[in-house]
Amino acid sequence: MSVTGGRLAGDGVRSMFDRIAPVYDVMNRVMTGGLDRQIAGSAEAVVRPGDRVLDACCGTGDLAIACARIGGQVTGLDFSEPMLERARRKAPEVEWVRGDVLSLPFDDATFDAATVGFGVRNVEDIDRALRELRRVLRSGGRLGILEITRPRGVLAPFYRVWFDAIIPWLGKVLPGGSAYAYLPASVRRFPGPDELAALIRGAGVEDVHYELFAGGIVALHTGTAA
Ligand SMILES: C[S@@+](CC[C@H](N)C(=O)[O-])C[C@H]1O[C@@H](n2cnc3c(N)ncnc32)[C@H](O)[C@@H]1O
Repeated sequence: MSVTGGRLAGDGVRSMFDRIAPVYDVMNRVMTGGLDRQIAGSAEAVVRPGDRVLDACCGTGDLAIACARIGGQVTGLDFSEPMLERARRKAPEVEWVRGDVLSLPFDDATFDAATVGFGVRNVEDIDRALRELRRVLRSGGRLGILEITRPRGVLAPFYRVWFDAIIPWLGKVLPGGSAYAYLPASVRRFPGPDELAALIRGAGVEDVHYELFAGGIVALHTGTAA
């Protein structure tokens, strides 16, 4: 695995998630303090019954499955086959596709809604990923990006202790946790909520807003394809 200033090259990210897959659901809940509960709310903010929905960077599938529960016709996409295997076991009725969010295997304007949960932080080129997501949305289609972010204000010091000390320690003591060692760096280099909103607008998405959850450490950005 190659790590450059907290950034893993694409193959490094994929092989890391291949290794994490068996423990991902458990580790996610432990390490993010249950933040994945935001997933259901994100699906509700973006998806309407009958929508054709792309959930990119779907991992083990929880956000895609939440979108399907609302009545979306969902395609979950991820480049890690071990993550997809787990998603398939959870919901065989959903379409699961192996692919790269940087080069989506879909025609322009295929989807009414697109979501990404805790995924854009990992991609090598966020701008390109956002442009690809915009490309596959029809005009007026909705985009939702749920992601860990850097909180401001009084919570910032607590957040530093959580991400810079406690998560790396959990990474040492929990089985399979070593693969999470890169998480603090990946959050530190990720754009804050205002910067991410600007990137999303730059990709051709209008009416971009964000909401902060969990004391400001998770942001849901939503917008409409121009
Ligand atoms: C932290 S997991 C999030 C999974 C899931 N969305 C969730 O909320 O639990 C990030 C996922 O993004 C996938 N991923 C990272 N870069 C990707 C890329 N360029 N194309 C497709 N999937 C990617 C990884 O394989 C991994 O499954």
